[in-house]
Amino acid sequence: MFCKKIIYKDFRNIERAELEFCPGTNIFIGSNAEGKTSAVEGIYLFARGKSFRSQHDTDMIRFDCDYASVDMEFDDIRNHKMRIAYSRDGRRLCKHNGVDIKKLSEFIGHFRAVIFCPNHLSLVKDGPSVRRSFIDTAISQIQPSYVGLLQKYNSILSQRNALIKNAYFQRDVFDATVEYWSEQLAAEAEKISSKRARYTKMLSDSANELIGDMTGGREQLSITYRHQKTKEEYFAELFSNHEREIKYGSTLYGVHKDDLDIMLCGHDARSFASQGQQRSIALALKLSEGEISKKECGSYPVFLLDDVLSELDAGRREYVLSGLSDRQTFITSCNEEDFKGIGDAVTYTVKQGEFEIRNS
Ligand SMILES: Nc1ncnc2c1ncn2[C@@H]1O[C@H](COP(=O)(O)OP(=O)(O)O)[C@@H](O)[C@H]1O
Ligand SMILES: [Mg+2]
Repeated sequence: MFCKKIIYKDFRNIERAELEFCPGTNIFIGSNAEGKTSAVEGIYLFARGKSFRSQHDTDMIRFDCDYASVDMEFDDIRNHKMRIAYSRDGRRLCKHNGVDIKKLSEFIGHFRAVIFCPNHLSLVKDGPSVRRSFIDTAISQIQPSYVGLLQKYNSILSQRNALIKNAYFQRDVFDATVEYWSEQLAAEAEKISSKRARYTKMLSDSANELIGDMTGGREQLSITYRHQKTKEEYFAELFSNHEREIKYGSTLYGVHKDDLDIMLCGHDARSFASQGQQRSIALALKLSEGEISKKECGSYPVFLLDDVLSELDAGRREYVLSGLSDRQTFITSCNEEDFKGIGDAVTYTVKQGEFEIRNS
């Protein structure tokens, strides 16, 4: 996967920029709040169809402008040209090789990327929703139809939640329809959990290998998808806990509650691993996301390292950089020191949303 060129227009603080990249290391350097993360966010949009840091698409539109757009050209077997644009009134326009795309599941999957930013360093100790979002995003890129499954599940979930919220006032409606919504939810839950469990198995194998590498074979890592269940088991849980759900006012069972168990040398990494070990696991998970993407799709995704190098100690930094030497990488930092020892690279200096290429 090789992102060759990108054009930002009224995107965040970038009025207009047209940048060309090399297939190896690409660097964005600049002080705080100059536009480095915005540049990376624009690239990652093509992998995910939405921002990795804002809930609202309109946040990406430059202040006082009506539209934002990003155009990208990349190679992955074939040449691809994609466009994504947002308007202030909430519309999104997507194109792939000139053809309009309506569904998110048809937009993603062409361009694949792994993003690694300081938040990810706490992937092990953060709450379950962060780990669910990590695997959901990773699976979506290698299997875009998974996005449709999640959307269907979430729509059933919100209908079931509405039913639960109204149960105090309309108990008869609840009693008459809860079984139907529970069955629907359980059926989708089974599909999602089996895909997550399959992905988690691949993640576990790959991350264990990397942790073995990092620790000279001293540590073993094992990751499992907690509580993978069948449709009948999900349904049984939902069916036997109506009163509890009404009390809490929402659906308490299903894949929106599931989690990963991460065990280091047989102990729960969340409670027992040191901060350094947790960081190594996070690194291994992110690198494994790339390995799985290559295995499933035939080429490495691009890697985006946003402000993460200065958070790592020398050993881990070297490990990441040497692990990424055979694929396209984008690295942002405020700190020249972070780039010591990196060989050939295309370097852009970023200042107030403007990019200047540095002559090497
Ligand atoms: N929609 C927007 N329009 C204009 N400026 C924005 C918008 N969103 C964020 N910014 C500003 O863009 C600047 C660059 O942000 P960012 O890319 O996160 O900087 P960096 O990563 O270089 O620290 C910040 O000053 C931020 O406040
Ligand atoms: Mg930043």
